[in-house]
Amino acid sequence: MVKVAIDGVVQEAQPNELLIDLINRTGVSVPHVCYHPQLGPVQTCDTCMVEVEGRLVRACATPVANGVRVSTKSAKAAAAQVEAFDRILSNHLLYCTVCDNNNGNCTVHNTTKLLAIEHQKIPFRSKPYQVDNTNPFYRYDPDQCILCGRCVEACQNVEVNETLSINWEDPNPRVLWDGGSTIGESSCVSCGHCVTVCPCNALMEKTMLGHAGFLTSLKKSALSGMIEIVKGVEPETGYGSILQVSEAEEAMREHRIRKTKTGCTYCGVGCSFDVWTKDRHILKVAPEHGPANGISTCVKGKFGWGHINSEDRLTTPLIREGGKFRQASWDEALGLVARRLSEIKANDGPDALAFISSSKCTNEESYLMQKLARAVIGTNNVDNCSRYCQSPATAGLFRTVGYGGDSGSISDMEKADLVLIIGSNTAESHPVIATRVKSSHKLDGQKLIVSDLREHEMARRADLFLHPNPGTDLFWLSAISRYLLDNNLANPKFLDQWVHGLTEYRKSLEPFTMEAAVRVSGVPGDTLKTVARMISEAKAVCVLWAMGVTQHSQGSDTSTAISNLLLITGNYMRPGTGSYPLRGHNNVQGASDHGAMPNMLPGYQSVDDPEVRQRFETCWKVKLPYTKGLDNHQMVEAIHEGKLKAIYLMGEEMSIVDSNANYVADAFTKLDFFVVQDIFFSNTCRYADVVLPGAPSLEKEGTFTSTERRIQRLYEVLEPLGDCRPDWRVTQDVANHLGAGWNYQHPSEIMDEIASLTPMFAGVNYERLAGYKSLQWPVAADGTDEPLHYTKGFAFPDGKARLFAVSWVGPTDQPNSEFDLHLNNGRLLEHFHEGNLTYRTEGIREKTPDVFVEVSPELAEERGIQSGTWVQLVSRYGQVRVRALVTDRVQGRELYMPMNSVESPVNRLTSSHTDPVTNTPAYKEASVHLNVLPEVGESPLPRINPRFGHPTPQNGVEVERKWKRPDYTPPGNGLVQLQTKK
Ligand code: SF4
Ligand code: SF4
Ligand code: SF4
Ligand code: FES
Repeated sequence: MVKVAIDGVVQEAQPNELLIDLINRTGVSVPHVCYHPQLGPVQTCDTCMVEVEGRLVRACATPVANGVRVSTKSAKAAAAQVEAFDRILSNHLLYCTVCDNNNGNCTVHNTTKLLAIEHQKIPFRSKPYQVDNTNPFYRYDPDQCILCGRCVEACQNVEVNETLSINWEDPNPRVLWDGGSTIGESSCVSCGHCVTVCPCNALMEKTMLGHAGFLTSLKKSALSGMIEIVKGVEPETGYGSILQVSEAEEAMREHRIRKTKTGCTYCGVGCSFDVWTKDRHILKVAPEHGPANGISTCVKGKFGWGHINSEDRLTTPLIREGGKFRQASWDEALGLVARRLSEIKANDGPDALAFISSSKCTNEESYLMQKLARAVIGTNNVDNCSRYCQSPATAGLFRTVGYGGDSGSISDMEKADLVLIIGSNTAESHPVIATRVKSSHKLDGQKLIVSDLREHEMARRADLFLHPNPGTDLFWLSAISRYLLDNNLANPKFLDQWVHGLTEYRKSLEPFTMEAAVRVSGVPGDTLKTVARMISEAKAVCVLWAMGVTQHSQGSDTSTAISNLLLITGNYMRPGTGSYPLRGHNNVQGASDHGAMPNMLPGYQSVDDPEVRQRFETCWKVKLPYTKGLDNHQMVEAIHEGKLKAIYLMGEEMSIVDSNANYVADAFTKLDFFVVQDIFFSNTCRYADVVLPGAPSLEKEGTFTSTERRIQRLYEVLEPLGDCRPDWRVTQDVANHLGAGWNYQHPSEIMDEIASLTPMFAGVNYERLAGYKSLQWPVAADGTDEPLHYTKGFAFPDGKARLFAVSWVGPTDQPNSEFDLHLNNGRLLEHFHEGNLTYRTEGIREKTPDVFVEVSPELAEERGIQSGTWVQLVSRYGQVRVRALVTDRVQGRELYMPMNSVESPVNRLTSSHTDPVTNTPAYKEASVHLNVLPEVGESPLPRINPRFGHPTPQNGVEVERKWKRPDYTPPGNGLVQLQTKK
């Protein structure tokens, strides 16, 4: 600690802490318009001038030093602060009373008040630019822009989309998109970082405009009139009294605007934020305090909430009658569900029923679904969609290190010297994690290796990009392990101390020579050796992987090979190291954690362990089944075989997202009874006998667990729409109609029960998760959690990890002369999976209206295809009709089709082949034949999709260029000690 005197009072500070942080911490008020703690010093506004030992410095860019005396209120400092802020006001009209940003958090408003500005010394100068309304989600008003550059800093160095800049050399600087495009046609991905950090109303969410204030919905002409009146009285009254009026209006807003913390409903990154609402209108999503994301979001979390108030939400139960659905009361629907489930159980036994939980739903809801299956019906036939994506990674980690989750936190990915991304389109599938990697790579010298079939954004940014043949990752990864061991580049000390099974593992690597790896994977030997060298030289390596690895017939073995590689190089147990299977859905981690699995009770406690079962039996007061149940894949087979008669499925569009979708849909037609619980009438609902309306994440309480094992609470933002009910209530209602007698009044009571039965969650409770507090499992009874696993040993009884030998089998469903093209598939940034939620946000539809198939330029030329050409894709299992998008993201005879379609889902083409360890479908192993159809339409991706923009990378806002302007002088008579950034 160092000692610093602030205005005569000695304070303790961390060495290198910024003066502004110390000043803010001690409660002293100093203006700081451009500074934002999550952006660091931007240094554009000059309002934070303080006097240090007689010299003026920017408090936001000056680190503390032991023994210095700081004056924040000396005449020199005060004059400089006011002079700097006067310059800012020349770029901004103060019309707070009729401004949608007048909500108590406007930095310009608050600084005017703090500095007691009464009159604008430098007159307001309008900028010669129009308001830009061309983005569907937000607008930029150059006339209100104070040129603080926060947005540029956020876009360039936090989001790292590198769209924004300021043309400092121009006589009239402004914020530019792609150096001068409209926002709509720029590379902007609508992540909203810029809007979130803008300190005034220059960048605003369109959902705020005209809605936040009492007078802000007035017509533009009336608003302009009022602004003129304000300007007219200002010389006489001063700003003080005008601000009083706006503050009265702001106080009125507080009564009708609710700000509620929740978690994102889309991917597994675990972003959390406040949602601002006025009645049912969503004013904005405000990220700030999220432990995983801070100010960050992607377009879906920031703007993708159109589904909440969509007119086609399910609001009452539906019952099929005479081939049609009719509305029904809850009593009737629940009565029917209970009667039919009971009848089938009585006639065919409990194992003729199955239950599928949702990784969109909460932990508590998954817990209740598996409790219903096990304790009320008496079957272990329960699963969730982690079967479709994550189970192989979990299996690979269970085999080698003992826990089936990410071994550290997102902050570890930031700290790594080398990040290796395999089979993950991180920038689109886990956008906020991608920002952390992009930022460390751009600013901190982190190295990045990407292996993928497609040259997506992360691949383009990588120091090294590998394009292996489809399904061959296991081979090249194992060859690198062998090369490292053979050339003494592994970590013998770590192996000796912490790892079992080296001898057997080395033996298993015999076939994995470099020569064989080149032949199988198609990656040049020099490239593979470079990868090996980079891994062995890096101090800390993280591997991130996703469905490009797991959705293969050897998904578990490839995940194992990744973990083996990390073990032999000692890349576990330390910050910045470890294995990171990136979880897809918001709560896919939690659904499995909480027992929605056919072989595991909550907390990965085996159903065949008598001691475990007895603990649950005592609490639940029933006898529990002890043989492993059916997983999703086996359920479909069992229906076809006539063994499974009824399914209760919650929040899962299974008829589209399961592989070989035609086969799955066909199975559903054979069920005796099918209950689907969802928030929309999904494609899967078409096969149901009863449809129960659940509630989306904003309409309930509970917890989600993100990819970094982080458990976070969501609070009810809005009341459930119509007659729909939170899913935990629906499942409880079903259970009680079956005679269970459950009486949970709130999800916290469910969590208390989970904690009492599950050592992994022993210390989890709602109090410890209040607000933005979070816990990363395992959580000990005293509340101690584990952001980084294995710091004291691996999760095996002797604390040692295990190398697990795997052998090479090779992918299924290979191309042949008839099905001559390889078809890959995955997500898009804007849509989540089939798009049931995201298509209901108009702006997302505008940017990304439809599905398509990516075709390489070479193949397009060979087949006479252009962007917009309709093609038919035919596989061994089905066919779809779709428009082509010609792009060099794919190469040669490899196609890529995103998942965002209900009408032409890619899973009509995928097979029923699975990874034998987990039964995860080999979605990424599909071969197709392509027929070019005569019609040519518009390109499936419109010009306004960010893919077609041209980013302008630079290092942040580049304030030095402002300082070089001939008309720039530092405020305070040139006494500024210019500081460089931290
Ligand atoms: S990508 Fe777009 S929304 Fe995101 S920070 Fe950049 S300009 Fe703003
Ligand atoms: S638009 Fe950007 S530069 Fe302008 S005030 Fe907002 S954050 Fe600052
Ligand atoms: S979709 Fe994922 S990255 Fe985007 S806001 Fe939601 S949790 Fe964050
Ligand atoms: S806060 Fe803007 S220069 Fe320091």
